[in-house]
Amino acid sequence: MRDKPVLIANWKMHKNLSETKAFIDALSKRDGLTQAWVGITPSFTALSTAASLAVNTPIHIGAQTLHEQAKGAFTGEVSARQIREAGGSFVLIGHSERRHVYKESDTLIHEKLKIALEEGLKPILCIGETLQERESGQTEAVLERQLASALNGLPKSDSLTIAYEPVWAIGTGVVASPEVAQETQVLSRKIIGSIHGEAFSKKISILYGGSVKPENAGKLLSEPDIDGALIGGASLDVQSFYQIIEACL
Ligand code: PGA
Repeated sequence: MRDKPVLIANWKMHKNLSETKAFIDALSKRDGLTQAWVGITPSFTALSTAASLAVNTPIHIGAQTLHEQAKGAFTGEVSARQIREAGGSFVLIGHSERRHVYKESDTLIHEKLKIALEEGLKPILCIGETLQERESGQTEAVLERQLASALNGLPKSDSLTIAYEPVWAIGTGVVASPEVAQETQVLSRKIIGSIHGEAFSKKISILYGGSVKPENAGKLLSEPDIDGALIGGASLDVQSFYQIIEACL
């Protein structure tokens, strides 16, 4: 359960260096950031710049993905250690775009989670069902498969955070209702409890993601099992991201 709301901006393949700088300069001057756990995942090319700018601010900088091996001949890939060295402290794992566009399997996601934990990066494990899976009543089975495959055999780390992001709500403008989101967060917590025990499942933060905006963030975050949000489109504008933070405090 949350101690502070966790609010993470997923910038995907947006923002150049000067835009990154302007955003972090502006956000870091706003009040109240320490009342939340605020994170940003810029592109790899802006990671080090963003991390330098965020030193001595309450903003955490992380990566959008990582490679599952510590090092080696993997052209184009970035390791956990390289992310840490660039100043990243956390990493998104299994985002729906990685699962569906880049065909990342449950097994690969497990390997990525394993190395993130070994290398001391805080993992944000993303899970979620497609519209077709929800409509055919498979939501529970999908979440069970994704969570069991990712978590089985790994230590119960307090740094683990889950982001429930229904695929049908990501970038579509269709947000899950607070009731549906809450119900599915409870389900995810129950599944985590069956893997790692109820006490652990109660301790960890489960975020909601998918079309979160300033207008719906407060209502979503007022649900008892929604501990934060992973925000794509609405995090690209500093005013809109800050309004989401304010709405959740
Ligand atoms: P969205 O993206 O807020 O634009 O729906 C969420 C995400 O991809 O994590």
